[in-house]
Amino acid sequence: MSAPAASDAIIRYDGLWKAFGPKKIYEDLTLEVRKGETITVIGGSGTGKSVMLKCLIGLLFPDRGSVWFEGEDVTTLDEQHLREVRKKVAMVFQGSALFDSLTVAENIAYPLREHLPALSEDEIAARVAKNLELINLPGIEAMKPSDLSGGMKKRVGLARAIAIEPEVILWDEPTTGLDPISTRIIDDLIVSMSQRLGCTSIVVTHDMDSAFRVSDRIAMLSQRKIVAVGTVDEMQASEHPDVRAFFDARKD
Ligand SMILES: Nc1ncnc2c1ncn2[C@@H]1O[C@H](COP(=O)(O)OP(=O)(O)OP(=O)(O)O)[C@@H](O)[C@H]1O
Ligand SMILES: [Mg+2]
Repeated sequence: MSAPAASDAIIRYDGLWKAFGPKKIYEDLTLEVRKGETITVIGGSGTGKSVMLKCLIGLLFPDRGSVWFEGEDVTTLDEQHLREVRKKVAMVFQGSALFDSLTVAENIAYPLREHLPALSEDEIAARVAKNLELINLPGIEAMKPSDLSGGMKKRVGLARAIAIEPEVILWDEPTTGLDPISTRIIDDLIVSMSQRLGCTSIVVTHDMDSAFRVSDRIAMLSQRKIVAVGTVDEMQASEHPDVRAFFDARKD
């Protein structure tokens, strides 16, 4: 397989196959993500949405197929080169994945120290403070994860991911379990990361209101592949039975 032709694609999942033991997750999954867009991946529980994000940063590998990022197939990269990818592609994990023994400030500083070693301690402290403000939790630097509610932990995990100002942000269910106001803050943050910094985002969510608010395009994962992709309007008008079933199920 060869690199994708020059286009505005920054990421391309190309003919992915993956199984965990007897359980087939992907059979020929393909999806192209354009530079600067926010694309949301929807699909049932256990269909492999989180696995898709992990395959982009080399936390998991497909059995067959390629995952292209900026012209390189990340499935072929060694740990050293994957670190370079992770400098540019940050993931907000579904669980917040904070280090319990570190303070909030140390958690957010961690990837800054790892990926941006030229930053001074003052610059790190300023970035930590700025990112806590962005998620509407200013001043909680000294707290430990065990002192935080689930929703607060989630937002701190998010601040940690965006602090390095990555080119691409992978948001795995960023608003699940959050109250409507926090959800709105996160949705606005996703949009502003795109508008302010020109970030490309892949969002995984079950919250269709969020998906409609933040997405340039929506892709549906079903039957072990991407069965439909289009703008919000196109997907709302889609007659694909899996898309219809998904959208119609949310109506009371
Ligand atoms: N490291 C792993 N080892 C074995 N099986 C795994 C692993 N990671 C994921 N799976 C399995 O792969 C399938 C897809 O997992 P994934 O976490 O991507 O689902 P998902 O679409 O994100 O679901 P949800 O909406 O519930 O988060 C699931 O059946 C899961 O149990
Ligand atoms: Mg998941």
